[in-house]
Amino acid sequence: MTFLDLEDSVAPAEKVAARRKVVEAIKNLAWDDRVLCVRVNGWDTEWTYGDVIEVVGDAGDRLDEVMLPKVQSAAEVVALDLLLTQVEKRSGLPVGHVGIEAQIETTRGLINVEEICASSARLETIVFGPADFAASMEMPVLTGGVAVPEYPGDHFHYVFSKILMAGRANGLQVIDGPYLYVRDLDGLRDYARRTRVLGYDGKWALTPDQAVVLNEVYSPSQEQFDRAWDLLEAYRKATEEDRTGALMFGDEMIDEASRKIAQKFVVRGERAGLRRSAT
Ligand code: GLV
Ligand code: MG
Repeated sequence: MTFLDLEDSVAPAEKVAARRKVVEAIKNLAWDDRVLCVRVNGWDTEWTYGDVIEVVGDAGDRLDEVMLPKVQSAAEVVALDLLLTQVEKRSGLPVGHVGIEAQIETTRGLINVEEICASSARLETIVFGPADFAASMEMPVLTGGVAVPEYPGDHFHYVFSKILMAGRANGLQVIDGPYLYVRDLDGLRDYARRTRVLGYDGKWALTPDQAVVLNEVYSPSQEQFDRAWDLLEAYRKATEEDRTGALMFGDEMIDEASRKIAQKFVVRGERAGLRRSAT
């Protein structure tokens, strides 16, 4: 997924002019088959409706999603959903064509994350925004989204878990936000493993170098992929041929829960281009 930004990376004086540039970029650059998204400005500004009307209205069907930043309540997602419906009707797009990604990056947004995740059929992804979140919490850090060594543990552990649970409970993709030390790829690899281990689907890349590291962190290894396949086969044989639901797989007892976990590895691995090693 790639997103073009109209929000915090665009200076206020350029906000309106940036809309046209984004529309031109969507129409004229080669995006291949990647999911294409535009981040509009949040509802606490004066720009949201204009961003949606101009960009979604003019970009055509190549635009797949709109990202809404600083979401504070379910009503904000519903408002965007209603506006998108009108813009789609007016511009001849099928209603529901444009999906929504919602960023959770304020204290109020986190408090309301469960309702936010259940607020619209257009919602595809929930995204954590660590920089804004640190600002909203008034954390005494100058860089959001990096480790804070003074804190015993991970200062975002609760936040990561809460967003992940709310997203998964509603069938959404769950994504971690940016790592701002763009030159520190080892630091990125280390920090990204935290959300990967919890179960996140991915993390924002700000540069092509970051994308290489993150693709590696969030994809299963060949060994995990092969083991997941072996487990699925052993489980299938046990349930279908031997009619047993629990069995030994090497030193481990496996059952239906193990199958679900292994299935995820296979799907993610295949998406990352892995193929089963020859045995
Ligand atoms: C991203 O938008 C962030 O605030 O971290
Ligand atoms: Mg932000």
